[in-house]
This record gives sequence, structure tokens and C-alpha cells, in this order.
Amino acid sequence: MKGFLGTRADFFSDLLILALIVILPALVTAILFAVKKRYLPHKRMMLTIFTVLVLYVIVYETNLTILGGVNYLTTNTRVQLVPYMALVVFHIVQSAMALVLGGATISRGRAALSSGQVSREGVVSVHRKIAWVEVGMLVISVVTGLVIYYLTFVY
Ligand code: HEM
Repeated sequence: MKGFLGTRADFFSDLLILALIVILPALVTAILFAVKKRYLPHKRMMLTIFTVLVLYVIVYETNLTILGGVNYLTTNTRVQLVPYMALVVFHIVQSAMALVLGGATISRGRAALSSGQVSREGVVSVHRKIAWVEVGMLVISVVTGLVIYYLTFVY
């Protein structure tokens, strides 16, 4: 089914790209809650974002498989195959790593919250240390996802 954003994309690719665009401001809001020490809304929002991202991967992969897998992408793009595939593989590997680290970040966040061992003068919790790496990885995943959409269906 044709998409609704006026590009060469199908309906689900358009829907999913909108979801990706919403994730970034949601991530900033959830981090601001943590910075302001409002850990309950931080926790709820991060868990929601993480759940949406996992569902996103499932819907995206199902849609892509139905449409013909990676062939669907390579026949749509006008970019040279080697740099295009290098970007796609980088995006997939780094996003998979972000999901794994996300699980660890959530588990350490729970530990920090339940033990009350949040960072203080001279001590930085494990959650805070890995959370900033996780934030960076999530941003890279979203940005490379947007670039791939552009190179596949717009450029
Ligand atoms: C992937 C999910 C998550 C990410 C990316 C994330 C990100 C962050 C970041 C960047 C900070 C540091 C804020 C600052 O420097 O002031 C932070 C702090 C914190 N987060 Fe999360 N968070 C996540 C999930 C959770 C969850 C699920 C919980 C609770 C169950 C939680 C509890 C906390 C707590 C207690 C702090 C304060 C830690 C401290 O100051 O030592 N976080 N989080």
C-alpha cells in the first residue's frame, strides 16, 4: 500500500518513520525528568520508549520481510549499493547493540532506584554511567534510520 508522506515509501515505512521522529523529543523529556530527579516519570517514560522501540523493530522487520526483505530497499534506492549497504548494516548492528545495552540500563536503573544509590558527590551510579552511552546509541539509531529512509525513498 502506498505511503502518505508523498515519497516512494509504503504505508508502514511512513508510519514507522513518524514514530521515529516522535521518539527524539520523548527521549529528551525523559532525560530532563531524571536531571530534575523526578525518577518515577523518568522510569515510566523510558520504559514506554523502550517498549515502543522493541515493537517498532518487530513491525518494521515483519513489514520488510513481507515486501521482499533487503531487496525491497535496494531496488528503491538510487544510491550506490556498497555505501548504502554499509550504512544499513551499521544501522542494524548498532541498533541491536542499543537494544541489548537498553536492557542493562533498565536493570541498573531499577537497582539504583530500589537501593536509593543514586549519584552523589564523588560517586556515579552504574546506571548513570551506561545511560549516557545508551542515549548516544539511541540517537545514532534514530538518525541513521531517518537517513536510510531519506536515501531509500526520497533521494
Ligand atoms: C533505556 C532506558 C533508560 C535510559 C536511556 C536512562 C537514562 C538516564 C540518564 C541519562 C540519567 C542521568 C541523568 C543525569 O545525568 O542527571 C538517568 C538517571 C537515572 N535513571 Fe534512568 N534511564 C533509563 C531507564 C531507567 C529506568 C527504567 C529507571 C528506574 C527503574 C531509571 C532510573 C534512574 C535513576 C534512579 C537515575 C538517577 C541515577 C543517579 O543519579 O545516579 N532509569 N537515566
